[in-house]
Amino acid sequence: MEQCKGLVTGASMGVGFAASKAIASMGCDLAINARGAEKLSEAARLIAGEYGVNVTPIPGDLRVKRDVLNVVFEALKHLGRVDYAVLSYGNPSREPLKLHEAKWEDWMEAASLYIASTASIFKALIERNSSKATVIVVSSFTVAEPMPPLIVADTLRAGLSRLVRVAAREYPEKLRPILLLLGSFDTPGARRTIEKIAKQKGEEPEELWKKEVEGISPLKRTGTMEELSNLIKTLLKSPEYLAGATILFDGATSRIAWP
Ligand SMILES: NC(=O)c1ccc[n+]([C@@H]2O[C@H](COP(=O)([O-])OP(=O)(O)OC[C@H]3O[C@@H](n4cnc5c(N)ncnc54)[C@H](OP(=O)(O)O)[C@@H]3O)[C@@H](O)[C@H]2O)c1
Repeated sequence: MEQCKGLVTGASMGVGFAASKAIASMGCDLAINARGAEKLSEAARLIAGEYGVNVTPIPGDLRVKRDVLNVVFEALKHLGRVDYAVLSYGNPSREPLKLHEAKWEDWMEAASLYIASTASIFKALIERNSSKATVIVVSSFTVAEPMPPLIVADTLRAGLSRLVRVAAREYPEKLRPILLLLGSFDTPGARRTIEKIAKQKGEEPEELWKKEVEGISPLKRTGTMEELSNLIKTLLKSPEYLAGATILFDGATSRIAWP
């Protein structure tokens, strides 16, 4: 059987790193992206060493058009084709932000980070990829259950559900996109956000993590990386008929099930 090929963005840490390891554990060669070249190369070395697959680091900023196109073009050059992709992102740089604190630039940043990058990656895969790609698009349960300090990210991320659905309907021969609304996972990004909120509130980060992250879940915990990895593998191997679906993976943290 031909070896599978995967592309992961936002991949040097957190959700994207876990997704990269999940795809590598399926025996696929990989192209991985993030901005920081050094950490990205280190992640590539670690994954290649652990799973015995080829991992190509492609540094680039998902907020920059040229970088986004370069990520797909270089991935296709190195891998030949993309069978699986996980699009993970960073967070708006000034987040957490309430509505009255957000500036024009914050909205534009989030629009490029989440929407323009995803649409451009879809377009490049539709036009240049020789195989049909299953693409998991990473979003958040906070789109379903709004959290005011994430208003900028969540307003834009809400648009990902339209993008995924339309792409699944319009390009069924090229793309099988699935939207993943994540609950809380213990990543450097999630810790950073809680540290910023704790500073604003004058509280201890660890206390706030227990109260506002673990405490709001009926399970009183975050999701584990093992659970995340298992889900990613399951979704990538799922029946074709799951095309365009939205998966809420949050341990029932959100009170409503549909964004
Ligand atoms: N962790 C959670 O609990 C959780 C829950 C729901 C949704 N999410 C969402 O999942 C995504 C990943 O979150 P995370 O917690 O894994 O974050 P993280 O720990 O901060 O990791 C983010 C990764 O993306 C890269 N990155 C950041 N900005 C980028 C950019 N502009 N272009 C390319 N790569 C970029 C980072 O490397 P560089 O900084 O070097 O670029 C890093 O590798 C985010 O969109 C987040 O909102 C996370």
